[in-house]
Amino acid sequence: MSYLNIQDEKVVPVVMQLNTLLADYHLYYQKLRTFHWNILGKNFFDLHVKFEDMYNEAQVKIDEIAERILTLRHHPVSKFSDYLKISSLKEVSGMTSDQEMVDTLLTDHKIILKQMSSVIAIADKAGDEGTIDLIGAYIRELEKTSWMLNAWSKSTNDQLKRNEVKS
Ligand SMILES: [Fe+2]
Repeated sequence: MSYLNIQDEKVVPVVMQLNTLLADYHLYYQKLRTFHWNILGKNFFDLHVKFEDMYNEAQVKIDEIAERILTLRHHPVSKFSDYLKISSLKEVSGMTSDQEMVDTLLTDHKIILKQMSSVIAIADKAGDEGTIDLIGAYIRELEKTSWMLNAWSKSTNDQLKRNEVKS
């Protein structure tokens, strides 16, 4: 018995977009672990902990996205070889500077946010409000994390310069 008020042919494109997002999140999760392990320098303590917070959040979302696909009565992609094929994110080595790590994550956030917008656009066409609700909250959270990483990248001199222009 179907408990969904959505026709299955409308659900299929939503599931395809959700599976791409699931693939993106697996690559993003592994990148965060790589950065957590390999961070070096004066920002070690800040970023080591921040990357752990971020991969723990990503892990929760991975499970929620997969279970949303199951709720829609389809199957989540679960092979890493498939994730590498369908995700737009690229694997990286951890041998990089703290600034490059943050820049890489901000670039990944842009790609993931674009994919989330695609999920919502297709879910809207299908009348899939549950998916819109889930992914809409993710957009808000990832935008906030992006703001924080962007603020980390700035120096306090940037703020002083901004105040000088205003006054
Ligand atoms: Fe750890």
